[in-house]
Amino acid sequence: MISIEELDQKAQQIIRQAGQNAYQKMENDYQVDTKTNYTDLVTTIDRENEQLINDQLRKIDPDSQILSEEGFGDQQISNMQGHVWIVDPIDGTMNFVKQHNNFAVMLALYVDGQPTLGYILDVINNRLYHGRKGAGVYANNQKISQPADLGLRESLLAMNRILTLSGDSALKKIAQDAIGLRMYGSAGIEMIGVITGQLGGYISNLKPWDLAAGRMLAEELGLVVKSIDGSSINVLSSNLVLVATRQVSRDIRQIIN
Ligand code: IPD
Ligand code: CA
Ligand code: CA
Repeated sequence: MISIEELDQKAQQIIRQAGQNAYQKMENDYQVDTKTNYTDLVTTIDRENEQLINDQLRKIDPDSQILSEEGFGDQQISNMQGHVWIVDPIDGTMNFVKQHNNFAVMLALYVDGQPTLGYILDVINNRLYHGRKGAGVYANNQKISQPADLGLRESLLAMNRILTLSGDSALKKIAQDAIGLRMYGSAGIEMIGVITGQLGGYISNLKPWDLAAGRMLAEELGLVVKSIDGSSINVLSSNLVLVATRQVSRDIRQIIN
């Protein structure tokens, strides 16, 4: 059976290929459709990338399950036993279409439910954030160290649009206490912000493919990845997630409780 180290090398090649596909075609070579509503976009590149990634994962790790956003993965994943790959073929599709910037490709491997490999490719900056459990986190080939443990009042915070506009009084207080509020429109780019220390925290409603890779990288760096009330998250369902420094997470819990 192929080792985790070999899977790590192959996965880096696969995600780079998907990034190259998106980069080469982003100016004009694709179609856009809507999914649940007019703000929920999918392009032919999302679908191509997912097929490209899944086809190769099936070759290198045939006994694994694949959980992916656009329908080319396994239809039913009810447990996290064995190898489960989680794929977001383009994260920030709206940015991909409107900005040609601030989007990512994301991939993670969970082994028996444990985050084991994680990849977020910032396509435009050609920077691959990758990590393996116990072996650290890298930006391309440069090792990343744990970000400073700053609190909310010293940190920029990212929050998604729905939560920012929700009118929830606790979320409003959290946003007001932070030194500044940011909204990038890509969970991947926002989680890169937290793991590199540019953001002290990120709060969003995330699906498995939005969360899986960033969670692996953030936990490897000693950051907190929890539900906003401090409870554990279930990677197979949608979650209201906080990715943050320990101090930001304590500050937020004080506001919520
Ligand atoms: C979306 C982006 C966005 C987040 C949404 C995600 P998609 O991913 O990450 O920032 O707020 O919850 O669905 O649909 O572009 O892959
Ligand atoms: Ca996506
Ligand atoms: Ca996504």
